[in-house]
Amino acid sequence: MADMQDGVTQRSGCDWIDELIRKSREAKQFAYCPYSKFPVGAALLTLDGKVFTGCNMENACSTLGICAERNAISTAISNGHRKFKAIAIASDSAEFISPCGGCRQVMREFGADWDVYLTKPDGSYRKMSVKETLPVSFGPDDLKN
Ligand code: THU
Repeated sequence: MADMQDGVTQRSGCDWIDELIRKSREAKQFAYCPYSKFPVGAALLTLDGKVFTGCNMENACSTLGICAERNAISTAISNGHRKFKAIAIASDSAEFISPCGGCRQVMREFGADWDVYLTKPDGSYRKMSVKETLPVSFGPDDLKN
């Protein structure tokens, strides 16, 4: 039974969403973030039901840091999966964790019509499509025009 609080905040009760959110939280424990001390985890569900996870991985050379979402997507791609149903993102922030612009563009590379679950530590979430996170986007098809 999904319960809608303010039009965006939801609680699942739906097994696969709860499970994806749980896996994103689990992935967060591996975050390497000695500089920001802001651990993030992501769990990416493929259309054929596989889940790939990622955490953020920072570097002393700060520009080389990689977000949790991109690590999860890279792992999926590296394992031959390119079609995605949803990604859940978890952090310790009291606010819904929102993907950075770079990650939105990387998600969009693999379609605009799949879902992003922005979560809070209490398990509540806000669901947005990739398209909603990155309107008027530039994608692979635009290179053909
Ligand atoms: N970060 C992510 O991994 N995903 C997000 O959605 C937002 C931010 C990371 C990048 C950096 O390691 C740390 O969080 C602080 O920005």
